[in-house]
Amino acid sequence: MENKNYKRTLVTCALPYANGPVHIGHLAGVYVPADIYVRYLRMKGEDVLYICGSDEHGVPIAIKAQKEGCSPQDIVDRYHNIIKKSFSGLGINFDIYSRTSSKTHEENASKFFRKLYDEGKFIEKTSEQYYDEETKTFLADRYITGTCPRCGAEGAYGDQCEKCGATLSPDELINPKSALSGGELVKKETRHWYLPLDRYEGWLSKWILEGHKEWRPNVYGQCKSWIDGGLQPRAVSRDQKWGVPVPVEGAEGKVLYVWFDAPIGYISNTQELLPHTWEQWWKSEDTKLVHFIGKDNIVFHCIVFPSMLQAHGGYILPDNVPANEFLNLEGDKISTSKGWAVWLNEYLEQFPGQEDVLRYVLTANAPETKDNDFSWKDFQARNNSELVAIFGNFVNRAVVLTHKYFDGKVPAYGKSEPIDQEVLAQLPELKAAMEHYLDNYKFREALKEAMNIARLGNKYLADTEPWKVAKTDMERTASILNLSLQICASCAIAFEPFLPFSCEKLRNILNVGINAGQDHRAGEADSIAVNMYHEGEGAALHTGLSTEALILSWNRLGASDLLPEGHQLNKAQLLFSVIEDEVVDAQIARLEKIRAEREAAAKAAEAKVVTPQKEECSFEDFEKMDIRTATVLEAERVPKTDKLLKLTIDTGIDKRVIVSGIAEYYTPEEMVGKQICILANLAPRKIRGIESKGMILMARQHDGKMRFITPQETLVNGAEIG
Ligand code: 2FM
Ligand code: ZN
Repeated sequence: MENKNYKRTLVTCALPYANGPVHIGHLAGVYVPADIYVRYLRMKGEDVLYICGSDEHGVPIAIKAQKEGCSPQDIVDRYHNIIKKSFSGLGINFDIYSRTSSKTHEENASKFFRKLYDEGKFIEKTSEQYYDEETKTFLADRYITGTCPRCGAEGAYGDQCEKCGATLSPDELINPKSALSGGELVKKETRHWYLPLDRYEGWLSKWILEGHKEWRPNVYGQCKSWIDGGLQPRAVSRDQKWGVPVPVEGAEGKVLYVWFDAPIGYISNTQELLPHTWEQWWKSEDTKLVHFIGKDNIVFHCIVFPSMLQAHGGYILPDNVPANEFLNLEGDKISTSKGWAVWLNEYLEQFPGQEDVLRYVLTANAPETKDNDFSWKDFQARNNSELVAIFGNFVNRAVVLTHKYFDGKVPAYGKSEPIDQEVLAQLPELKAAMEHYLDNYKFREALKEAMNIARLGNKYLADTEPWKVAKTDMERTASILNLSLQICASCAIAFEPFLPFSCEKLRNILNVGINAGQDHRAGEADSIAVNMYHEGEGAALHTGLSTEALILSWNRLGASDLLPEGHQLNKAQLLFSVIEDEVVDAQIARLEKIRAEREAAAKAAEAKVVTPQKEECSFEDFEKMDIRTATVLEAERVPKTDKLLKLTIDTGIDKRVIVSGIAEYYTPEEMVGKQICILANLAPRKIRGIESKGMILMARQHDGKMRFITPQETLVNGAEIG
């Protein structure tokens, strides 16, 4: 509810699936806003716990593992570490970043399910579900693909169409096929447990539709349409291997549905961090729970998970669920599978020292009320004309002039002029505006106000021209620079939640520390409160400050005495640097290439055109090629690849091995005994440590599908073709 007096805030961020690195869409939607909020509350001295971790179950992970010929655990191990490291590279330091494949979580999720089961909170139903006879498995969710009944797109999944965003059930798909074998599906009976959401409808309506009218319109609107549409029981188990086993006798081969176990992960991770005090965060009405998520997660966090918590009893419910809309990239929907994304781990490698630029641009363009777009030109413009030209330029001028005229010591403030009063009067207003926006999860607007503080400082310097005044009036010059430096110190406070790396630099220049609040990362074992700085060591260590050093805190934002007269500054240092055209042009070129390839493939498929003819070659060139018939004797997959088959063939001349990239199109069994055509005299090559002698001739269709060439009737092996 609004304006409740809470004692502490528990912030959770959607647990990212550990099947790929995080990209700018995830960051803009969830993690950057959450990080701003946590930093802001901590600077105000509030007690905050910041929880995240990897979501390691679910079908996409199992399918990826199968494609790569490894275990799901291998996949999640790989991406968990990449994601964790990249978050911290962007200054996003959760109190804990754990994982749903942990023992604590398995026990916790099982216990949760078992309590609901024992108390009769589920209904058990046997129903007909799709079954793949080839792989002998029941299929659900992403294991089934077909045509979307809403928009007609091919390749829609059994739980969602990625083209139009519709939530689907497998039964709605037109022409459903197995995503595992590509084959037809049959229906077979299976038993599952369902959470009867219909029983919670009245309660949800009261809690959200009456009690949380302050939630963002996109969140409230989605909840309203789900509730008004009538809620149905939802299956919370699946016939699969990868996941938390259903803790019920006779449920072998069944696991908890990933959306049942994942949100419990927030609780498990808190328990892992604070084994003795976690309950105060999850069970006390004094705790404000806030879930940061993307819009595709709204139903799970506002309807399903709260119903689970309510069914269980004893847990608090979210006070707010500030879900963002989606971020597009250069005008197109971000798509991991199509390579249309900017990945955080790659950004951090390619733009070292420019972490804050990404944080800034993603906040300035945050998709808070509608889908928004990220473009590299905008990224460059915001850096060059806002961070460099306004904030960086202001700080640099104030500090350089102080060194020039006053040996880097904060000069005395003398007689006040009307312009000074006007500037000083605006600072508390800007602080109040920032607080209003931050308290209401409007991070874009809050950032604008922070930039307005720097803008105010810049304008003050431009209007007062201390470099000219210095020729005649050192006393007034001192006052102007004193006031300018106070505004710089206010910037160091105001920007800290948004630009922590640059504010650390700025604090170094100003020779001050900051009270960035406690964090709980050390868990209960470490009882020493970590103060002042997000890296945990404290800003004092970074700036060489003594323990009595100047410490900035949020409530002092806008004060005119943040830096006392005579306080020694450190040397000026540029906070931001200009981003040149070539840098963003290279990024644009990478994306343009992907777009061009995609468009060409789509065009070719649509128009059924063939690729243009290659350059002319001479008869002599052609004659060099020794093309012959051969028969496949043995075929096997090359381990740890999904494209390669190792074929032993009889060429009529000899028996030899050819490694060929045809596993996407043929199984080993389909190849054995087939007569094929080969280029026999291609220079041998080692592929995955296997010597491959020759090449199989394949025809490639415009849609990329490939078939091998076979003579019309069986010929002797070694027959020359030409
Ligand atoms: O959409 C996603 O990326 C999910 N992995 C989010 C899970 S949030 C929570 F419930 F764990
Ligand atoms: Zn669709």
